[in-house]
Amino acid sequence: MTHLHIVGSGAIGSLLAAGAEKHKVTYTRYPRAYSSLHRDEATKRCDKPTLGTFFSTPNESSIPNEATWLDGHSFPLHGAIASPTKIDADHVLMFPLKVYQLESALRQWLPFLHAKPVVVLLQNGMGGHEIARALLGDDYPLLLATTSHGALKKQRDDAQQQLVYTGLGSTTLGSIKHPNLCALADSFNTDSLFKTDHLLKTDHLLETDSLLETGSLGKTGKLSKTERESRQLVRAYALLNKTLPPVALSNNILHALWSKLAVNAVINPLTALNNVPNIAICDESYSEQIHDICQEFVAVARACGEYFDLSEVKDKVIQVAKATGSNFSSMHQDVQYKRETEIDAINGYIVSMAKKKGISVPTNTLLVERVKALLV
Ligand code: PAF
Repeated sequence: MTHLHIVGSGAIGSLLAAGAEKHKVTYTRYPRAYSSLHRDEATKRCDKPTLGTFFSTPNESSIPNEATWLDGHSFPLHGAIASPTKIDADHVLMFPLKVYQLESALRQWLPFLHAKPVVVLLQNGMGGHEIARALLGDDYPLLLATTSHGALKKQRDDAQQQLVYTGLGSTTLGSIKHPNLCALADSFNTDSLFKTDHLLKTDHLLETDSLLETGSLGKTGKLSKTERESRQLVRAYALLNKTLPPVALSNNILHALWSKLAVNAVINPLTALNNVPNIAICDESYSEQIHDICQEFVAVARACGEYFDLSEVKDKVIQVAKATGSNFSSMHQDVQYKRETEIDAINGYIVSMAKKKGISVPTNTLLVERVKALLV
């Protein structure tokens, strides 16, 4: 039986915990950062820590202890444990964090990852993959994800945080190193024709070990390292699909991340700078600016080998703004609460790739400067 480990208790991290609770996936939550005392003690004990290894209680009030699901039903969530723990190979470790939080969070986990459990990165913007590869190495089983689920954290009257699931979306998942995961998952999904429910479709990948034991065996009668790793990734996908469906496996996750980058590059800075909910950017007054941001995005993406059609990109942005309607974007919320924003990983990424490719991107450059100026 596999287990989900969730680092960080932002809205999406807490939504994953809520999905795990709801769908009876065993899970453990961890704060994003530990005091050095906890880290040192945990590292000393990393040969035999258990899921119950407590050193002290993290700042509980910032971690939602209750979730309200889409149907309005509320239920409690486990608290976070105060130190990293050694994780088995069939477990999944998720980092639903901001790109700028990723390096320090991942570093704390390095002593606990000898068994090479699958690590899943889930953040807005780009740059996370490079950070993770530099720390974990090219050989590590790594999945990248992007999600469109809506969730927010609310403070209750008793000062405790509550997670509210505000909009059903979907998650796209994939591996740059193993781009053929869809075919592998499908080959183990032959009974899915008889099961229309999305949860049932992948559930059996978790219940049986066949994924790790059978298939085309090499001359030695053993699975190759690559095939074993692919199967480990498919099982991680099945666990995430059970936790927070629907999850789609993508054969081109990089393209999916670029596509989400365009959405964030428009909605996030415009809503933050103008103090408006997402739907507001559908107003005609924003159309010229949206056109300029997207045109620059398309030019830079193409120079980086990712082809996008300008009008399709603009349509997608408007579609997401409408679907998330009255929600305030994550960047809007960061500015409201005076937290560091993700501008460097979003429009800043477009600007830095443009520089490398010798492309002029004045609109994105100005947005980066203006969003940064909001917090000085
Ligand atoms: O960052 C966000 O807020 C979200 O990714 C999105 C899609 C812009 C919706 O608010």
